[in-house]
Amino acid sequence: MKDISTINSRIYIDNSATTRVSDGAVKAMLPYFTEEFGNPSAIYSYGQDAKIAIDKARHTIAKAIGAMPTEIFFTSGGTESDNWAIHSVAEQKSKAGKHIISTAIEHNAVLKTLKKLEWLGFNVTLLTPDSKGQISPKDLEAAIRPDTILVSIMFANNVMGTILDIQTLAQIAHKHGVLFHTDAVQAAGHIPINVRKLDVDLLSLSGHKFHGPKGVGAIFAKIPRLPLPLITGGGQERGGRSGTENVPGIVGMAHALQECIESQKENSVYLRSLRDRLIEEFLKLEGAYLTGDPIARLPGHASFVFEGIKHSALLINKLNEVGICASSGSACSATSQEASHVLMAMGYSQEMALNSFRVSFSRYNTMQELPFIIEKTKLYIQELRNLKKLQVLY
Ligand SMILES: Cc1ncc(COP(=O)(O)O)c(C=O)c1O
Repeated sequence: MKDISTINSRIYIDNSATTRVSDGAVKAMLPYFTEEFGNPSAIYSYGQDAKIAIDKARHTIAKAIGAMPTEIFFTSGGTESDNWAIHSVAEQKSKAGKHIISTAIEHNAVLKTLKKLEWLGFNVTLLTPDSKGQISPKDLEAAIRPDTILVSIMFANNVMGTILDIQTLAQIAHKHGVLFHTDAVQAAGHIPINVRKLDVDLLSLSGHKFHGPKGVGAIFAKIPRLPLPLITGGGQERGGRSGTENVPGIVGMAHALQECIESQKENSVYLRSLRDRLIEEFLKLEGAYLTGDPIARLPGHASFVFEGIKHSALLINKLNEVGICASSGSACSATSQEASHVLMAMGYSQEMALNSFRVSFSRYNTMQELPFIIEKTKLYIQELRNLKKLQVLY
């Protein structure tokens, strides 16, 4: 593994937030900014060459997730894919019913979309996970009503890395004739996905989570379900998603996904070794807890709560000062942080949910980075705890 995560002596360990675009993806994209800049809707060769590139990318993405090319639609990213999937079913099926089931641990791209649908008269049931972040198939079955039209459950959680049993959950939805959407933004490229095996109807993914560019994503919609458009206009993407296509982005995303699939097994072993070493070290600290599922979790994802620090933004800021870029996984800025809604849904107190701390590795991280990350994190946790004790005294 090359040591290129340490750019300008920074150590980047927030790959669930976004990833470095791979060299291969950048190279694949470049011609579509310059020589091959045509509008894919145009009939002359510049346009047709761009259209061919999009078709090729569509085939690549389809193959990577076991779909047919006609089942793939390009979007501006995971947020749009989630919005589109949910709105499309809600609009198409509203005569059959207005009840949607999801979970309390979804990304806001799903939760806020469901909130909006509630204002429009839909009913939403949010299932709560167990202590590992898993959704019980029994709870799902019990929540299904005659007017349920959609179940939307994420494949892997961004805050605590748990991989959910989508195949079982989709089976239950289908047993009751209900459509199933999964937000696979954190899963795609990192763990195997086969939409036929999972038997999902709709699946969202996002390029920048697997070493592709930002601002581009895709949605899988199982044939014969052509999703109702969310964005209307010139009729691109077979009328599904209007707007001139982001050709370089689409090409780069497909290339990056292909690269991930080709080296998935090897990367997975490597990322697990980084993750498990870090977990082992952090758990030696008193008052440190791993969040999420210890077994069914994303290969490069380690997430914790630490007792006795006011909130993890303080720790993240301190680490940033020595060039380590980590995060909480929940809405967080340099100066403030919200308690993670995911951890609160799992039963953590607000105080603990403010302490969520996430390390997410990519193939660009190295074993050599680990001792520095471990040493500094432990040191700052101790410092923050001492500070808290002093504040209690005075
Ligand atoms: C689970 C999940 N869904 C959706 C999104 C949104 O994706 P994008 O940033 O491509 O809009 C994210 C991004 O963090 C995510 O982690």
